Amino acid sequence: MFDKKVILTGVKPTGTPHLGNYLGAIKPAIKLGHEALAAGGKHYMFIADYHAINAEKDPNILSQKLKEIACIYLAGGLDPKKSVFYRQSDIPEIHEITTILYAYTPKGFMNKAHAYKAAVDKNREAQKPDDDGINMGLYTYPTLMATDILAFNTDIVPVGKDQVQHVEIARDIAGAINAHYNCKLLHLPTYYIDEHVAVVPGIDGRKMSKSYGNVIPLFDDDKAIKKAIFSIKTDSRPMEEPKNPDEILVYEIYKSIATEEQLKEMGDGLRQGKLGYGNIKNMLLDAVINEIKDAREKYNYYMAHFDEVEEMLQEGASKARPTAQATLKRLKDAVFGKGLNPFE
Ligand code: ADP
Ligand code: TRP
Repeated sequence: MFDKKVILTGVKPTGTPHLGNYLGAIKPAIKLGHEALAAGGKHYMFIADYHAINAEKDPNILSQKLKEIACIYLAGGLDPKKSVFYRQSDIPEIHEITTILYAYTPKGFMNKAHAYKAAVDKNREAQKPDDDGINMGLYTYPTLMATDILAFNTDIVPVGKDQVQHVEIARDIAGAINAHYNCKLLHLPTYYIDEHVAVVPGIDGRKMSKSYGNVIPLFDDDKAIKKAIFSIKTDSRPMEEPKNPDEILVYEIYKSIATEEQLKEMGDGLRQGKLGYGNIKNMLLDAVINEIKDAREKYNYYMAHFDEVEEMLQEGASKARPTAQATLKRLKDAVFGKGLNPFE
């Protein structure tokens, strides 16, 4: 499916990624990128820092989150020599393209975008005016995201379900521009949802999420990871009592990380009353540490040598910019009457 395709992944540097983000988003994104590259395609991976400023105004927090997210992708195996790895704010053409797209974006698209609607709903619930605290960055965010995608002639955007609508908006805007000029100026993207990626439960049984405070930390030290794992909810049944593993949260979390063999061992042990909660928590702890230990070492290295990462990002931007420049030129030439030059 990725045969010679352009795959583009964007990630907002907000929040410190947890194990759920790593297993559910970061690792799968890197894997898809590798698959695309192996199939002769191209992989763009970027940090959407202009998207982050809509919600985060503290420069220290922003720069810290950006550092963390860049280092996590590198630690997780992203190869900046193969994938084009860059920071959105290093590509100034993005904003010129966005300005052009605005003129072809019906305001109604923004009114119905999920992020804006959710913010309005929250205000209504709190009996505040609809647009209280909502800035233009949040309101127009789908157009900026459309540029992120369209600037690089993207074929496929791997996304979670919440981002599908944004890719559809990008596609609609591109379609409207192409139709207006009766010329393929922009390549139409599609989205891809990886159905195999499971939701990792948190230590209280709800979806692991930073907003629930129920996370297993990612590249923290063993002690912090152990503390989180040992506070996973269990009951007071004794070890000898046979248990159905599917009712046990530790086992549910283990599913997202263990091999089949490891999972069977835990499942059998629980069913036969041979493993207690302390045993299975230690098994989960070992699996988590085993999963992350090499990546954590790399992560700590990159965090301590961010100048090297910065160089990679600069190199990535210089690889990415010519494509964005070409897209901008096609658009400007068409819009201002210098000529119609279709893509491809
Ligand atoms: P959070 O819920 O912690 O705020 P985000 O909403 O920022 O996480 O999600 C960032 C990415 O991580 C998304 O692609 C999302 O699908 C993925 N993700 C978040 N939580 C989980 C989870 N518990 N299991 C699997 N993937 C997750
Ligand atoms: N909106 C995405 C999110 O909140 C991040 C993002 C910005 C993105 N631009 C993108 C994702 C382009 C894919 C393609 O997670």
